[in-house]
Amino acid sequence: MAAEAVSVLITGANRGLGLEMVRQMVKGPGTVAKLFACCRDPDGPKAKDLQTLAVKYPNIIRIVRMDVSDLNSIKAGVQHVASVVEKKGLNLLINNAGILSKSTLCDCTPEDMQNVFNTNVIGPMNIIKEFLPLLHSAAKASKMSGMSCKKAAVVNISSGLGSMGLVKDTYGVFPAVSYRVSKAGLNMLALCAAAELKSNEILFSLLHPGWVRTDMGGEEGEIDASESVAGMLSVMATLTEKQSGDFFDYKGEVVPW
Ligand SMILES: NC(=O)c1ccc[n+]([C@@H]2O[C@H](COP(=O)([O-])OP(=O)(O)OC[C@H]3O[C@@H](n4cnc5c(N)ncnc54)[C@H](OP(=O)(O)O)[C@@H]3O)[C@@H](O)[C@H]2O)c1
Repeated sequence: MAAEAVSVLITGANRGLGLEMVRQMVKGPGTVAKLFACCRDPDGPKAKDLQTLAVKYPNIIRIVRMDVSDLNSIKAGVQHVASVVEKKGLNLLINNAGILSKSTLCDCTPEDMQNVFNTNVIGPMNIIKEFLPLLHSAAKASKMSGMSCKKAAVVNISSGLGSMGLVKDTYGVFPAVSYRVSKAGLNMLALCAAAELKSNEILFSLLHPGWVRTDMGGEEGEIDASESVAGMLSVMATLTEKQSGDFFDYKGEVVPW
């Protein structure tokens, strides 16, 4: 990804797409100096594969306990990361953690909507706000002009199901009302952040990973996590200020709002 090694933070890094991002990023040719792999239960059975990777790459991977729906947990994560990166700041923050509830409009309860929003929208909002000082530091410390994922960026893993333009074609196949509304909300959140922080040279991006065979995507998914992540990393490497606030899929194709 980068000529100069960067620092990266990924939420929900213990399984699925987050874990695959960790796998592919640490294998890169010295492009990632520090990778903060966040998960809510680092010592639990669902973090075993991540633990194994961290043992293999002890100089790069730092496992950070973080529940994205808990502001105190995010604040503790910021302290941890700040103590490692110091004045260099954090170059790339990937809001990947997410949950899916398969509700139709008639099934969807206020609790379901609230729960999905807490993780998929309020979590990324709090993370962006809390990590801003470290992103600012990275933007200031960088010698590069313009915006890029090597300098200071927030990549938000959204979904085609959050696309309003596609809903008429896809709703019948997969309703998931709370999830769709939350990802549309995440899209707007990232657009607002991109507009508000443009002068600070922090890039914001939205990526749809495709329909992927993970716990969330299920066995019927169209692609595996390695293809999706390889595609998303390639897209991230091409992003500049011209694409800040845009919504792409893992192949680099524009997803309609
Ligand atoms: N798979 C697809 O087809 C697909 C399609 C479009 C978009 N996406 C998006 O891609 C992202 C990753 O999805 P995936 O397929 O890898 O899903 P996944 O296999 O279900 O993994 C979800 C990850 O999010 C974590 N997570 C959930 N709630 C969390 C919380 N409160 N705090 C911290 N971590 C939390 C999970 O941790 P635990 O192990 O602790 O639960 C897990 O690491 C999501 O944002 C999803 O919406 C996926």
